Amino acid sequence: MLSSDVARRAALLREKLEYHNHRYYVLDDPEISDAEYDELFRELAGLEAEYPELDDPNSPTRRVGGKPAEGFTPYEHAERMYSLDNAMDLDSWFAFTDRVIKTVGREDLAYWTDPKMDGLALEVIYEQGRFVRAATRGDGRIGEEVTGNMRTVMNLPLTLRGDAVPELLEVRGEVVISNADFAVLNGRQREAGEKVFANPRNAAAGSIRQLDPKVAASRPLRFMAYGVGRVQWAQPLFAWTSQQEIMEGLKGLGLAVAPEAKLCGSREEVGEYFQELMERRAGMPFEIDGVVAKVNSLSMQRALGFTSRAPRWAMALKFPALQVKTVLRNIRIQVGRTGVLTPVAELEPVPLAGVVVSNATLHNKGYIEDHDFRVGDTVLIQRAGDVIPQVLSVDLDKRPEGAVPYEFPTTCPVCDSPAVEDGEAVRCTNDTCPAKTVQRIIHFVSKGGLDMDGVGRKWVERLAVDGVLESPADLFTLDKPTLLKYERMGDKSAENFIAAIARAREGAPFWRLIAGLGIRHVGEQTARILAGAYRDLEALGRATREELQELDDVGPVVAESLHAFFQNAETHALVERFREAGFWPEGGQTASEAASDHPLAGKVFIFTGSLPDMTRDQARALVEERGGVAVKSISKKVDYVVAGEKAGSKVAKAEKLGLEIIDFDRFMELLHTSA
Ligand code: IVH
Repeated sequence: MLSSDVARRAALLREKLEYHNHRYYVLDDPEISDAEYDELFRELAGLEAEYPELDDPNSPTRRVGGKPAEGFTPYEHAERMYSLDNAMDLDSWFAFTDRVIKTVGREDLAYWTDPKMDGLALEVIYEQGRFVRAATRGDGRIGEEVTGNMRTVMNLPLTLRGDAVPELLEVRGEVVISNADFAVLNGRQREAGEKVFANPRNAAAGSIRQLDPKVAASRPLRFMAYGVGRVQWAQPLFAWTSQQEIMEGLKGLGLAVAPEAKLCGSREEVGEYFQELMERRAGMPFEIDGVVAKVNSLSMQRALGFTSRAPRWAMALKFPALQVKTVLRNIRIQVGRTGVLTPVAELEPVPLAGVVVSNATLHNKGYIEDHDFRVGDTVLIQRAGDVIPQVLSVDLDKRPEGAVPYEFPTTCPVCDSPAVEDGEAVRCTNDTCPAKTVQRIIHFVSKGGLDMDGVGRKWVERLAVDGVLESPADLFTLDKPTLLKYERMGDKSAENFIAAIARAREGAPFWRLIAGLGIRHVGEQTARILAGAYRDLEALGRATREELQELDDVGPVVAESLHAFFQNAETHALVERFREAGFWPEGGQTASEAASDHPLAGKVFIFTGSLPDMTRDQARALVEERGGVAVKSISKKVDYVVAGEKAGSKVAKAEKLGLEIIDFDRFMELLHTSA
């Protein structure tokens, strides 16, 4: 039964989560830590799992992406989404404003100016303050509905903020990916052997046009509002009267708008603003390709109207393209943590948008083949914002005689082992390739692994190059005198370094070790599941593919990857060295928890069905407080299956495995038995 208390709690959690999303993603000013946010999120997800009546498509938990769509449904915009006329220089801007001034018969016009965002145009619709639909611009009259994908865009409010919320609001804006996020995304795509994107705009557009919202959810999309379509207010006399009021209104309702936007008091001021933004362009967080200037007064806008394709009251002042030609001197191959060979163009250094460019990415083998880039070619390169420059095309007229097609290496340039194609990527097949080793140790100590705060990336690289660190196991035999041989290593840093390793040795949870090994397809989530089901590295290493696949979340690809990893002789050596070094995290719990003397210490619990007085997450927390382990997937390692109401297939599975199944009362008894 859904009590009003539960409904109120869920509503409060939703409101809080949306509030903190807004602080984090729109204001860039979070008030709580990620862990606190996660806790609120988990509590809400727990309630929703237990009380399906709470279902709401606009719950913040739905931002992870729902079911894939079969195809996109056409959506007809109620009001046409017009295009913009372009001015390539300031002369055209003054000619345009001459016409505006003539039509309205006034010279003293103000213009709202904002950056021209380079993304995908979209309309987002709110009814009674709730997000109901989103559609791409399409041809301006008919676009495609992308509601499920837009729900995953974290800075888009699902519920509008404030007291004065319109009954109907159509917001127009651009879906974009920041330059920094783009670099990370492309790096991830490259390492995974997936398609790399030519620029943030393509990545944003491609992500919104995915049928599976989970893919969109995994992309760092942002929505930046720049205008409105239909707006209907409950209060009869209320209306926005200028572009400035619209933009401030949208911001107040919780939408993100470009912070650079401003009101210019004259057309000359627009010219100055254009120059200013052009200079700041390279340092902007998002790609912009110009400035859009709009007559500020809405009554003037109405008087000016539209041509067949664009408003007569707005104009895009475009920046010149950030592209230049230079000579491709050489193609160098870099090797990443997972062994992916990435080609890098070594260029004749050339100034471009304020920096000298001498390297640019060539993405992967297919990219070079598709464009037929050859050493010696004159190539067009592009630099946009902070994004790594890239090579766009080749000038065939300037191709030197005798230039030969580039042959992508079939062996690793670092260790000479065979390199094989895997999706879009080419990978070194040698698991002990030194290039991989450095990246692997870095991953081992990073946040995604053992999170050894105090062990710096630069130092790992240095120590690896010197041969002091050849494997993650070497960390555990490292001592302070060795570190202090390095001139730049201070006494305090060396101490922190060693202390971080000692902390990991003593207290690292088993899942961090699994995640830190950098096994392909095994991320944090999978590592946690494995750590819940297996006692230690040795037990995990002995698991067969079939056993592994019995776990939730572990499919054939992950099982195969784990199996291959543990088959490897190098892995055996590594495991042995961890053991010798006394670094041996066990079964989903820290060593100190395992040592706890509560009778539940080390016992593995699984909860299924709904529990009478608490959420499953709360129950799991109680187990963990007593040194036990709460897992989500059933296996032979489970000691107690706590079956609540409507416990489903897990109970049948538990019976088959011969596990002990207990009810909630028995669980409470166990909790309260003292040591
Ligand atoms: S106003 C009727 N403002 O540029 C006014 N558009 O070339 C229409 N765009 O389809 C648009 N940033 O997707 C406006 N600050 C901005 C913009 C912007 C990017 C895009 C928009 C439009 C395209 C027209």
